[in-house]
Amino acid sequence: MRKEVVLITGANGEMGHGLIQHLGQQGTFDIIALDVQPLDDHLKPYCLRAIQGDILDTMLLGRLVAEFEIRTIYHLASILSTKAEYNPEAAHRVNVEGTLNLLRLAVEQSQWQGKPVKFLYPSSIAVYGLPDLETKRCAGKVKEYNWLEPTTMYGCNKLYCEHLGRYYARYYRQLAADYGQSSVDFRSIRFPGLISAVTLPTGGTSDYGPEMLHHAAQGLPYKCFVRPDTRLPFMAMPDAIKALLQLEAAPRSALSQYVYNVTSFSISAEEFYQIVKKAFPEAEITFDPHPNRQKIVDSWPEDVDDSAARQDWGWQPDYDLERAFSEYLIPAVRQRYEVARQVR
Ligand code: SER
Repeated sequence: MRKEVVLITGANGEMGHGLIQHLGQQGTFDIIALDVQPLDDHLKPYCLRAIQGDILDTMLLGRLVAEFEIRTIYHLASILSTKAEYNPEAAHRVNVEGTLNLLRLAVEQSQWQGKPVKFLYPSSIAVYGLPDLETKRCAGKVKEYNWLEPTTMYGCNKLYCEHLGRYYARYYRQLAADYGQSSVDFRSIRFPGLISAVTLPTGGTSDYGPEMLHHAAQGLPYKCFVRPDTRLPFMAMPDAIKALLQLEAAPRSALSQYVYNVTSFSISAEEFYQIVKKAFPEAEITFDPHPNRQKIVDSWPEDVDDSAARQDWGWQPDYDLERAFSEYLIPAVRQRYEVARQVR
């Protein structure tokens, strides 16, 4: 008998950390963690298997199909928006071909199991592309189907993979005689900028928020690469994990769409600075906007409309702006670097 498991790709990334810890502590499912980087030692005890490997390695994915009965896939692996601009074609391979490989794996699994395999896919506010600042400021809470003209390779990849997910869930091999026998239960969330107290993102464009906080907590100077008036929606990492788990648990019949916005609070870089400075008065933070990274952030919405998620699967963040900083980010980030100092 193959073992029933949950597969997490990008397991050693920011979301992977939170998700593995949560699912691991719950202990309901065995976890297979996959990442190109070795999994951090403290996450290993939560996993049945930690595999260092590439989602582009189809032989490796084939071996997973042979060995495990995968009930749910959290496909978190991705090259984020800034990094993707340095090598757009390589990013396309990882973000699109990688996702296609995982969708294919999900189809195969569902054929073996005779039931749909759940496929949780984090998408992003990067799928939006507002043409200019004026439009961004007037757009208000952007709905899932508006302003879908991304300006980054990452945004294009995420938007296309949302479509691929919908295709695999509903139309995959629609002319085949056995069409509809098995399928992928695709569910996606468009996340705003995420802020974790324990990990830093790598290669994103909303990174100025978390970077400001983590630099300040370590007593390191920080040059913020966007203007003070730059506004984006953000969310604390525990809420992002909660959203993924809630969407996973929702009955399919309650879901009226494949892709949902979620958000918690919208905040400007200046407001971020004020909060960080209050918590860490010694912090040396300056603003030194990078023109092209600024343009990317200027094309992303100030706020998104997450009413569909609220209505269909009861989405509600635990951490608003106040709670996110006072009860989670500031105390946890303080503790993180305090412990690091003591270890040194
Ligand atoms: N946080 C991501 C990035 O900045 C957007 O999803 O690339």
